[in-house]
Amino acid sequence: MNCITYTNVRKSFGPKTVLNGVNLKVEKGNTHVILGGSGSGKSVMLKCLLGLIEPDEGTITVDGLDTTHMPSRERMEHMHKFGMLFQAGALFDSMNVWQNVAFALMNEGMKPADARDVAVQKLKQVGLKADTADLNPADLSGGMRKRVALARAIAHNPQIILYDEPTTGLDPITSDVINDLILQLQSELKATSVVITHDMHTAFKVADKISFLYQGKFIAEGTAKEFKSTDNPYVKQFVAGSAQGPIQGAV
Ligand SMILES: Nc1ncnc2c1ncn2[C@@H]1O[C@H](COP(=O)(O)OP(=O)(O)OP(=O)(O)O)[C@@H](O)[C@H]1O
Ligand SMILES: [Mg+2]
Repeated sequence: MNCITYTNVRKSFGPKTVLNGVNLKVEKGNTHVILGGSGSGKSVMLKCLLGLIEPDEGTITVDGLDTTHMPSRERMEHMHKFGMLFQAGALFDSMNVWQNVAFALMNEGMKPADARDVAVQKLKQVGLKADTADLNPADLSGGMRKRVALARAIAHNPQIILYDEPTTGLDPITSDVINDLILQLQSELKATSVVITHDMHTAFKVADKISFLYQGKFIAEGTAKEFKSTDNPYVKQFVAGSAQGPIQGAV
């Protein structure tokens, strides 16, 4: 069963076409990796899914519901299905760790003492000790920030988790710890996950399926195994991280 479906989604900013007929099906319970170069529109795709950006054309459905023209009250409920790990981690520096994790819960009226308990439990789930709860974001390493952001993303037990570049800026070992966490959360929460990355190690480790975005469209889809042995010159070049091939660098 499909959980998320993009049908012919288009989005331009002024004269610049970013999404030019995106079609994608994400199966329920799967971890689906979106690969694509810098500026190819990966984050815009996720923002369209969350309703933060409105597509110019096309539809996006979640659990069979068209989200593209959803009234605002329904959208609030719809948003509740998602947990989002934003690209920059984006913790609130004016709040400590547990307040960051429990932000949405308290917004929804949960009492601070209860919200703190949930936050501590979620911090444990992502491998952080209870005493992390009272630290400030400025006191955390990059890997810890990612974990806290992940704890916040899963605080309300979402059915769908969106990861935008979960390992960028982390050393290879910390990156792999995050990859393991993605897999662990997948099995614990039975969620559907969309992982945006250009880290091939992450892609191959976590993906049930990989789709490759190029010039506003998906031009290839397959399993990690299929991507490793593909003849598609675009995918081949991207997987190899080579400057030689049909894809021109952005600089
Ligand atoms: N609100 C906006 N207004 C104008 N242009 C935008 C807006 N949001 C995104 N863009 C443009 O859309 C293009 C795709 O951006 P996007 O952030 O989706 O790239 P990306 O694939 O996530 O790249 P990266 O891997 O570097 O994060 C870029 O050229 C960007 O400048
Ligand atoms: Mg991005």
